[in-house]
Amino acid sequence: MDTLRGLKRTHDCNSLTETSLDQEVVLMGWVLRRRDHGGVIFVDLRDRTGITQVVFDPSIEHQAHEKAHSLRSEYCIAVKGRVRRRPEGMENPKLKTGMIEVAVNELRILNKSHTPPFPLDEEKDVDESLRLKYRYMDLRRPWMTEALTMRHNVCQEMRAYLNKHGFLEIETPMLTRSTPEGARDYLVPSRVNPGKFYALPQSPQLYKQVLMISGMERYYQIVRCFRDEDLRADRQPEFTQLDMELSFVEEDDVIEIVEGLIEWIFKRTLGREVKTPFKRLSYHEAMERFGTDRPDMRFGLELKDITDIAEGCSLKVFQNVASSGGVVKALCGPGMASLSRKDLDDLTNYAIGLGAKGLAWVKIKEDGEWQSPIAKFFSGEEKSRIQKRLAASPDDILFFGADQPSVVYKVLGELRIELAKRFDLIDESIFDFVWVTDFPLMEYDEEEGRYVALHHPFTAPKESDTEILEQAPEKVRSRAYDIVLNGVEIGGGSIRIHRPDVQKRVFKALSIPEEEAAEKFGFLLDALSYGAPPHGGIAFGLDRLVMLMAGRESIRDVIAFPKTQKAQCLLTKAPARVDMTQLAELYLKPNWKSKD
Ligand code: AMO
Ligand code: AMP
Repeated sequence: MDTLRGLKRTHDCNSLTETSLDQEVVLMGWVLRRRDHGGVIFVDLRDRTGITQVVFDPSIEHQAHEKAHSLRSEYCIAVKGRVRRRPEGMENPKLKTGMIEVAVNELRILNKSHTPPFPLDEEKDVDESLRLKYRYMDLRRPWMTEALTMRHNVCQEMRAYLNKHGFLEIETPMLTRSTPEGARDYLVPSRVNPGKFYALPQSPQLYKQVLMISGMERYYQIVRCFRDEDLRADRQPEFTQLDMELSFVEEDDVIEIVEGLIEWIFKRTLGREVKTPFKRLSYHEAMERFGTDRPDMRFGLELKDITDIAEGCSLKVFQNVASSGGVVKALCGPGMASLSRKDLDDLTNYAIGLGAKGLAWVKIKEDGEWQSPIAKFFSGEEKSRIQKRLAASPDDILFFGADQPSVVYKVLGELRIELAKRFDLIDESIFDFVWVTDFPLMEYDEEEGRYVALHHPFTAPKESDTEILEQAPEKVRSRAYDIVLNGVEIGGGSIRIHRPDVQKRVFKALSIPEEEAAEKFGFLLDALSYGAPPHGGIAFGLDRLVMLMAGRESIRDVIAFPKTQKAQCLLTKAPARVDMTQLAELYLKPNWKSKD
């Protein structure tokens, strides 16, 4: 194996062009491909930035050519040589370096490589567990390098913008106590405090509020958060937030700063203009029209309420639902009457999987007649009222959901997206932002038998609703706002409670006993009593934002070392067993059932 001794890299693999002809250069990187062309060997040399073709020609340097025979994929090498124009017809206009090649006169093999576990030069789907196990190889792929570079750029631009707007970047502890963001905590036992545990932060929520009380005025942090919850494509047990908090602000002040931030980031990293101000929808409107509080508004297929019409029809399910406090809603798929019986069975099963009892549908025929198993239950007048409300015409299909509102929203909300995908209605080139506001402050949790905060318990109620906090907690609206991009919740925040008396009333409405509030959040209540300024903020899911900006389907593709659905790191094999002595030191006694 060779060493680097005396050799200095002069260029990266994405910078040589025709302006560098005849220069002597030194490149370093990895062998992407080696092609033996009867006497001359070509290597695509790759580094983080790109690819340069290097040529081993026996008529230039016999020894280097001989040595190049042993090169294999992913060998780490350094080459010295002269830049020359590629012969006519051999140019590759797709590469920035595609007009030139480097004729090598010295080759150093810095390290060999085993055969890669998967090809690095193809966009082909590779089994994700293999990618995660050999993450160092996966990250060498330009596809991943690009994503991490984008993430870096986004973070730099976030900092640049916020620094310009008077924010201080302040770190907050990782070893802390539980902050209620609605997930389970990751706990860390304390060796020096037997029987006591830190919780890893679900977010820096309370620290950032304390920083406002400390007079920091504007804070941000790009910070890791930990939540032990069920994982999905856009959820990781540890993920990153851009966390912000500002003093002396109301909703519109935070929204304005954030819109400026988004504009700045998109312009600087993607060269894209985004239109501000963003649309705004109330929670109520979002649920009514899209069945979800994170609506994808790049396409229509909106939900319409037809409970009043369904009440009078003779279909039993609809009647019963309408008369027992449920809702009947429908959506119209324009031109979708072409769905086959099998498609409809699939969609019905899909709806049932989401909790529906069925999925009634109506195809509107050329002559305007209804083709549907439920057609006979509707009078001519009911049919035409429904059709009018849904703006339906021949060749359209209508889908109906009848149930408790939460079920109907969920089923038709998801069906809407499923149909948009099947019929290719989503313009993937659009970035569509919307603010969702006016959330309920709390909702009743049947399982827990109490009200729980929709965001977190430090979110301020709307001033006009504060009076009914005790009498009608479910009617109180909060000063929270979520920001949604293309149907993904990329951030959420609120104006906070800054008065200890209001905070105590909210704890009470959430059935948090006074002693528990004092024990868990006493420090906050105390701090609020020392001239806490009005304040509010927001946190972005950085991984989700970058995922959408990079056009990826999963946040795992924009995180260097993500975890699997089972919260495992396949590279390091974390989580792992620990020694009994380590447990003993922490005053922990094993009590698990071992499978092996
Ligand atoms: P929230 O819980 O809404 O608010 O989190 C803010 C944003 O973080 C992202 N996010 C996640 N991303 C990946 N994996 C996860 N498991 C995950 N959970 C959340 C989402 C979400 O919008 N302290 C408050 C913010 C505030 O009030 O200022 C908070 O954490 O994009
Ligand atoms: P049934 O009367 O059960 O045969 O149902 C008639 C049609 O209505 C079928 O297409 C069912 O899938 C559908 N359906 C049944 N229950 C519901 C419901 N709660 N909401 C929407 N459609 C339903």
